[in-house]
Amino acid sequence: MKYSYFLIALCLTTLQTFAQQAQTAEEESVENKITVLLSKMTLEEKIGQACLKGTSSRSKGLSDELKEQVRQGMVGAILNLTDTALVLQIQKIAVEESPNHIPLLFGRDVIHGYKTIFPIPLGLSATWNTTIAEQTSIVAAHESYARCINWTFAPMVDVCRDARWGRIAESPGEDPYLASVLTRAYIKGYQGENLSTPGNILACTKHFAAYGAVEGGRDYNTVNVSESLLRNVYLPPFKAAVEAGSATFMTSFNDVNGVPSSGNTFLLKQVLRDEWQYGGFVVSDWNSVTEMISHGYCADEKEVALKAATAGMDMEMTSQAYAHHLKTLIEEKKITEEQLNEIVRHILRIKFRAGVFDNPYFKEKDSFKILDPASLELARTSAIKSFVLLKNEKQILPLSANKKIAVIGPLAHAPKEQLGTWIFDGDKTNSITPLTSLQQTYGAANVNYAAGLKYSRDESEEGFKEAVAAAKKSEVIVFFAGEEAILSGEAHSRADISLPGAQEKLIQALAKTGKPIVLVIMAGRPVTIDRILPNVAAVVMAWHPGTMAGPALADVLTGKENFSGRLTVTWPKTAGQIPVYYNHTSTGRPADSASFVGIKDIPVEAWQSSLGNNSHYLDAGFTPRYTFGYGMSYTSFSYSNILLKQNVLDKNDSLYVTVTITNTGTRSGTETVQLYVQDVSASIVRPVRELKAFAQVELKAGESREMQLHVPVAELGFYTNEGKYVIEPGMFNLWVAPDAAGGKKQTFEVK
Ligand code: BGC
Repeated sequence: MKYSYFLIALCLTTLQTFAQQAQTAEEESVENKITVLLSKMTLEEKIGQACLKGTSSRSKGLSDELKEQVRQGMVGAILNLTDTALVLQIQKIAVEESPNHIPLLFGRDVIHGYKTIFPIPLGLSATWNTTIAEQTSIVAAHESYARCINWTFAPMVDVCRDARWGRIAESPGEDPYLASVLTRAYIKGYQGENLSTPGNILACTKHFAAYGAVEGGRDYNTVNVSESLLRNVYLPPFKAAVEAGSATFMTSFNDVNGVPSSGNTFLLKQVLRDEWQYGGFVVSDWNSVTEMISHGYCADEKEVALKAATAGMDMEMTSQAYAHHLKTLIEEKKITEEQLNEIVRHILRIKFRAGVFDNPYFKEKDSFKILDPASLELARTSAIKSFVLLKNEKQILPLSANKKIAVIGPLAHAPKEQLGTWIFDGDKTNSITPLTSLQQTYGAANVNYAAGLKYSRDESEEGFKEAVAAAKKSEVIVFFAGEEAILSGEAHSRADISLPGAQEKLIQALAKTGKPIVLVIMAGRPVTIDRILPNVAAVVMAWHPGTMAGPALADVLTGKENFSGRLTVTWPKTAGQIPVYYNHTSTGRPADSASFVGIKDIPVEAWQSSLGNNSHYLDAGFTPRYTFGYGMSYTSFSYSNILLKQNVLDKNDSLYVTVTITNTGTRSGTETVQLYVQDVSASIVRPVRELKAFAQVELKAGESREMQLHVPVAELGFYTNEGKYVIEPGMFNLWVAPDAAGGKKQTFEVK
């Protein structure tokens, strides 16, 4: 027996060695091919590889200028060319007529689906489900490939602690660990096991770096972060992307501690290349290279080219500093040709690995279907899993089948808005709205529909009367509130993140009917709802759910499906609390309810005092409305027998924790078990809690299961302000909990 195990192990090791050798041989052959190509390329052609040209998706054809530039080898890649015939036409020019026959890459923002639109990434993150992340990216890749796109500008992995920032909609939320896990899954989905397999496309991990930390949540704003914060919070998903083999990276618009990312040697050279050994290529963001002039970091376009190239920014998106100045800079010996060769090597390496030399014309593209029924089904299930039930008073939900319901609100039948931000190729004619699905489910005669407001920002109260009349005829009101898609995403930050327009007024008017209100929010960010929370019996956060919003929402509202989504961002009571996030550090005077003094508790002409002497807001307290990780279900779960395998661990050990989860309710459901730790005392202050592991379990009513969670002690360290990763011995607290505020504290020690 032992002997046969030995033989199997030997075979496996041998196979592994062969595979590694083959990989190294393949890599070597790619590097040799690049060396040969480089030796044949002129300076102009090399610079050309570093140019990403934009085209307008609305333009009718290819301009003669672009064709000529491609013919001369002066373009490396094209973005936003969506007419497949034009893609193939320009690729033919590159392959057949350019001096060295180097094919182009075709890039596009395929952020949460191409034609089949999945929930916005913030919604997808709320699934806490890597299979969903991977599968949705596979569909997005296949649909894109079918339309001759081989490079997506996704995943966006900017950790964000500020719901005012419009781009939080595209982000994986506020937690670096969850963001890293999802990043790996997205990249695996887009790129597959082998980049060159037809149907797989290049991922572009963006925006490097710390874009989610823009001051005040205002887009493009400055970022000031200590090196420890940068490395502990904002960089982990990018590091995970390198480990997952992300073919490309995109720089961010912001500066980081005074240096714009597109010219940031620390980020692009020291961290990305030297520390992480990244081998793919880095593309700038749209004009972000020349924007270094507006930042006040470069005097002119020539200095822009110099600083970007010196920092290690490989391909320039849309602006033309490289095209205009790199040659002169080389002639003036400010940049060496070797430096340019390095840039081109990064780009060609990816072109070879992606197989575009062998497959420039998207072979087998017609075998990949757009809006395939299976893809639409995935859009439905991913939306269901992304919904977060935040409130459910007196178990108003689920709504039974024989109810008369009023469907009200500007998002109830808004096929374009439910798709969310960044859906260049999404098409509202494919959307199924909540109104349509609820009419199908309850029968049109049982659904009284009145939008009440024409769109989310509508201030007019003209439609209120009709809405109130619809409510009066019904037993329950389902109000579809939120933001239109255009109110989140790039350049769409908001200072006030409550429901826009007259939505609150309408909800208050409806509440006067005495009919219970189920509030369904469709938005790109958490919205502050404290003013209307007392008026509603239930709250469902649906994000912007995508093409299949209607069927997915009908399934959970009727109880056909259960809720399982959990928040991946802390939900504020008011925008004035922001930044508010679970993994904050502790002050010297942490707040607690015992000593809390609210604004109403202060006597008139009170003597100057420090009140409860702790860190809180007089008017908003110290807790958010809903914490990270929170989400309800139609069933309930209990946690028992939480056991640590060892309470004293070595740096090379792993922490193993077992917990028994029991479904204590009356129907099946999915629980997301979360493991948080706190390094109690360290050389720099550490967060009060940090997510280190999680696991999902689906249980039938009454069923119990023992779950094991596992964290290598190596992952319990942190980066110091000098950028050094340390695991410091000492005591740790641990919670196994359903959210970031729950659980019973346990301890362990790292020796
Ligand atoms: C955005 C990027 C996007 C690029 C190309 C920029 O404005 O910041 O995320 O990939 O445009 O469309």
